[in-house]
Amino acid sequence: LGTQIKKIKIIALDQHNDGRGKMIVAEASNNIPFEIKRIFYIYETDNDAIRGCHANRKTQFVMICVHGTVTVKVKALEYEKVFILDSPDKGLYLPEMTWKEMYDFTSGSVLLVLASEIYDGDEYIRNYEEFLRDASLNNQY
Ligand code: TYD
Repeated sequence: LGTQIKKIKIIALDQHNDGRGKMIVAEASNNIPFEIKRIFYIYETDNDAIRGCHANRKTQFVMICVHGTVTVKVKALEYEKVFILDSPDKGLYLPEMTWKEMYDFTSGSVLLVLASEIYDGDEYIRNYEEFLRDASLNNQY
């Protein structure tokens, strides 16, 4: 497997637990491997909805399901893996040029996404064949 695919991983986020409850910190240059330029969160998702279905040429992400459960299928050249995000202490790190599909959102779930770049619709690849073609030309694989 190429170096890019090896980067895909679950980051274990430390919990700060005390008598009052729990807290988790996501911090650039500490447990998040990029400078966070944007966050967005996905909620009130239909149970049968599939989100994502695209790759980003430039942006890295960390996905954290802060409430409930969501399933994320990640694909790259000769790589496919399903991650179940079922705890706020799991951060799914996705380097650039990884295809992702999010589905099976449980009722009330909230998916928090940290991104390394400002939004730019032009860096999205929304066609899977195009993604495979571009990924195979990309010498990072
Ligand atoms: P979309 O990429 O389709 O969401 P998902 O990846 O969950 O399937 O984005 C939905 C809409 O929101 C689309 O019109 C683009 C817009 N959008 C922004 O304006 N800024 C952002 O940072 C994101 C992620 C989406």
